[in-house]
Amino acid sequence: MKILVTGGLGFIGSHTVVELQNEGFEVVIIDNLSNSSEDVLDGIVAITGQQPVFEKFDLREKSKVQDFFARHHDIEGVIHFAASKAVGESVEEPLLYYENNLGVLVYMLQELTKKDKGNFIFSSSCTVYGQADKLPITEDAPVKPAESPYGNTKQVGEEIIRDTCNVNPDLSAIALRYFNPVGAHPTVEIGELPIGVPQNLVPFITQTGVGLREQLSVFGDDYPTNDGTCIRDYIHVVDVAKAHVVALQRLLNKKNESNYEVFNLGTGKGSSVLEVIKSFEKVSGEKLNYKIVDRRAGDVIQAYADTQKANNELGWKAHSTLDDSMKSAWDWERKIRN
Ligand code: UD1
Repeated sequence: MKILVTGGLGFIGSHTVVELQNEGFEVVIIDNLSNSSEDVLDGIVAITGQQPVFEKFDLREKSKVQDFFARHHDIEGVIHFAASKAVGESVEEPLLYYENNLGVLVYMLQELTKKDKGNFIFSSSCTVYGQADKLPITEDAPVKPAESPYGNTKQVGEEIIRDTCNVNPDLSAIALRYFNPVGAHPTVEIGELPIGVPQNLVPFITQTGVGLREQLSVFGDDYPTNDGTCIRDYIHVVDVAKAHVVALQRLLNKKNESNYEVFNLGTGKGSSVLEVIKSFEKVSGEKLNYKIVDRRAGDVIQAYADTQKANNELGWKAHSTLDDSMKSAWDWERKIRN
């Protein structure tokens, strides 16, 4: 069965391609390599022994999207990762984000609604909840005004899919709201490859650990949490990848309760920035050079998932611990720097 994975050479995309191939799916990847590398294909082949089909083009070229679906009329599901994801950049270049994340989404849905049956999985984010009033966060928590154009593309993206599903009963979609995906494949054949200075905590920690960065800045220790640092739900990328496969199977087996559903992907456990650092120090045996600095604008204090809906309805659960995630992130960082 043929599945399209857009952005399939990116961090979460590549791990999902591996899990799809492990489950016997035939994968076609579209990626423009804007934030990834063709070498990732070698990693996927090293793990699975299978070469996915790869087409390099930019999905903003609508005629190419139309041509692709005309050539691959036997695509039975689409997992759509391709998007821009840097919060700061989105503030500087909002139109780039709206075009990449929403324009392309519209093109994909236009093609899927032409088919007898369309199955679509969307990469959303816990950022849609902002600072939630209640923790852990359930899927019915209100969506809060977005802090950035990036966050807005996830909110509006969900609305575009919901509205399209409303009037297209043959289209079925699931939006997966990721908490904080981290770590790398245990084989260390694939992992995260941030371009330039990492904005996210875990790659910044591992790059500091290998000496690529001098010091980690911890953004604030005066938050109303146990140790004063912010709390997030860090989830191993392989657990995230596996959730995509079960979500896809739910659509393919018509087990979905409505043709638009939303699920949180988290572990259910919150960890503070200092706990993440401690975990890194434990699994690496290295002392991390860090200092406390001012808060970062736009950070929420705490976010962690209520995972019951995904557990009960998808039959999926995250298995890896924070230590597992940090160990694999560290192994990957050392491998790519050698
Ligand atoms: C960030 C984005 C979020 C996006 C997600 C996707 C912001 C405010 N939020 O989430 O919208 O969906 O990335 O990748 O940018 N931290 C440090 N020092 C650092 C880096 C991070 O102390 O050098 C802290 C942060 O303050 C935060 C935690 O580590 O408390 C996690 O940060 P990060 O990895 O950037 O993820 P989010 O902020 O949760």
